[in-house]
Amino acid sequence: MSVAAAAAGRQVWRQLARNNTGTSAAIRRTISSLPKSHSQFRPTSLPAFTTTTTTTTSKAVPRLSQSQYRSYSSGGSSGDGTKVKFWPFVVVLAAGTGGWVLLINRQKNMPPNPKQTASSTKPTPAFSPSEVTVLFVLGGPGAGKGTQCANLVTDFSFHHLSAGDLLRAEQDRPGSQYGQLIQDCIKNGAIVPMEVTVALLENAMADAIKKSGSRKARFLIDGFPRKMDQAFQFEKVVCPAKLVLFFDCPEQVMEGRLLERGKTSGRADDNAESIRKRFRTFVETSMPVVEYYEKEGKVIKVDATPGPKEVYEDVKRKLVGKLGENF
Ligand code: C5P
Ligand code: MG
Repeated sequence: MSVAAAAAGRQVWRQLARNNTGTSAAIRRTISSLPKSHSQFRPTSLPAFTTTTTTTTSKAVPRLSQSQYRSYSSGGSSGDGTKVKFWPFVVVLAAGTGGWVLLINRQKNMPPNPKQTASSTKPTPAFSPSEVTVLFVLGGPGAGKGTQCANLVTDFSFHHLSAGDLLRAEQDRPGSQYGQLIQDCIKNGAIVPMEVTVALLENAMADAIKKSGSRKARFLIDGFPRKMDQAFQFEKVVCPAKLVLFFDCPEQVMEGRLLERGKTSGRADDNAESIRKRFRTFVETSMPVVEYYEKEGKVIKVDATPGPKEVYEDVKRKLVGKLGENF
């Protein structure tokens, strides 16, 4: 019986080892199935599987007299002379192991979840909120997000990353596999698939931190997240956000600003038709993000109707009011 139990044990370990290799291979497959030019955003090495070792401190255990010990040998006898049968335990163990192995194999044969990306396999966000402060900056197109971010950079030494600017740079990057996709989305005021935007932001943050030489940094992430999936993905794999600065502005005012900007901006989406689509996307897709963070108590709302100076005074007052002078 003990030989059979040992053989069953060996079988389980072999299966475990096989499954473990399979899991790593599945993760590698998911990563390598990302679009090619996405490879520059991929982590250069796979996240290491960490194991936790538990150390136990041995306590003094009161010793039992020989007659108090219960025998666990199937060949021996218990203290009261009754034989302990081991085969029922082995049968139960074998049945349980078989079921578990079947379950694991079924999972292995299932296609990878399309929503899973390389980054989502990381166990923790790339940056810790104790070192990296992230403020999302939201508002309709033409609300003045970029202008206000420039002021905050001067006064509070933020790094300013505009999701739209990063997307336009990627669109123009020779050889980018996403160029056409980004161009189409921008022209139609549609949201670019979040994997692209989140990866661009993570890369830009890593670059800024590397260049600054300090692990501590503050970021204004401008025009992001424009959709709930972007918000969840970013907070999960890049860094949890501290606050959202929301610039509230009537469409009429924003439209006037955008049409004026369109005279010189050269942007493919600063025209009446694209502006209409961008407004609709903002109301239907981006406002729910603002409402979500409002419920979380993380939104600083600023009326963006007045001129830039007046708006900035309000921004500064509210930001310092919320985070203190030396946040
Ligand atoms: O923020 P900005 O107006 O520069 O964005 C331009 C366009 O870039 C958006 O209309 C949208 O097509 C795309 N974008 C996106 N996701 C973001 C930010 C911008 O898809 N988070
Ligand atoms: Mg902008």
